[in-house]
Amino acid sequence: MSPQSPTFLFPTSLISSAVQAQLPEGYRIRPLEITDYSKGFYDCLAGLTVVGKVSEQSFQQTFEQMRRCENVYHIVVIEELDQRRIVATGTLIVEQKFLRGCAKAGHIEDIVVHDSQRGKKFGIRLIDQLKHIGTMVGCYKLLLTCSESNEVFYNKSGFVRKDLHMAVYLNNDTTSSVAIPVADPITAATPTPSTSTYATASSSVTAALGAATNSNSITDTTITTTTPTTTTSTPKPRTVSIEALSASMESIMVK
Ligand SMILES: CC(C)(COP(=O)(O)OP(=O)(O)OC[C@H]1O[C@@H](n2cnc3c(N)ncnc32)[C@H](O)[C@@H]1OP(=O)(O)O)[C@@H](O)C(=O)NCCC(=O)NCCS
Repeated sequence: MSPQSPTFLFPTSLISSAVQAQLPEGYRIRPLEITDYSKGFYDCLAGLTVVGKVSEQSFQQTFEQMRRCENVYHIVVIEELDQRRIVATGTLIVEQKFLRGCAKAGHIEDIVVHDSQRGKKFGIRLIDQLKHIGTMVGCYKLLLTCSESNEVFYNKSGFVRKDLHMAVYLNNDTTSSVAIPVADPITAATPTPSTSTYATASSSVTAALGAATNSNSITDTTITTTTPTTTTSTPKPRTVSIEALSASMESIMVK
């Protein structure tokens, strides 16, 4: 690949020209690009929730990890071209199912418009774009979770309240991006960094858990465009807290 050719997270053919045409001049809607770290992607995301400390290297590694999962991660951004900065972003994750004839469901996540750019219909354009991708890739429904204060915003794009959203927060730190390989407490084997057993380096798991719980209250609702269903949680890489790991290792050593 030449240094000039951009690396997009997913094919640009999934971007709707109709949505692009509705943006003000000087703005472009496109897939996330590997260079977007330096274009204020995180400044934009910070308008949504805690983003943690993420180095450019971690961003690029995560980007490549997502890009290898073809047809799954669709992170869209709106860029203000003369400023070379990201002013809005939204995500569609496509879940492959076995049921309904091996159907696909789409999950909308992380919708945010930079606080200096709200009220310009960028939020609506993001949703229109993600609905376009969902249609193009064959999703039979799109689901999202939001606070009650944003329900009317999503209603304007055709989403309606369905079912009850539930959550449990696990003992995994989301405030640090530093992932280190650790020994499996069962086999005591230390994996290479390419495997999925990691401990996140932190001593503040409880604080992070409290913050996460506060920012996602029981007033969250699940919204869908089609038939009722129960939302499913996305499998995460197996992670182990330092404290739990130490306890497990001590017990192995005693035996
Ligand atoms: C919610 C958010 C994405 C909306 O983006 P935006 O670009 O300001 O919204 P738009 O300009 O596209 O608004 C489109 C319409 O929705 C309305 N709207 C926007 N946010 C609204 C809200 N919270 N409640 C009610 N209506 C809302 C607008 O008034 C507008 O109505 P109109 O078409 O009748 O004029 C933006 O406020 C944001 O980033 N908020 C912080 C992060 C967040 O909460 N994200 C959602 C996570 S689920």
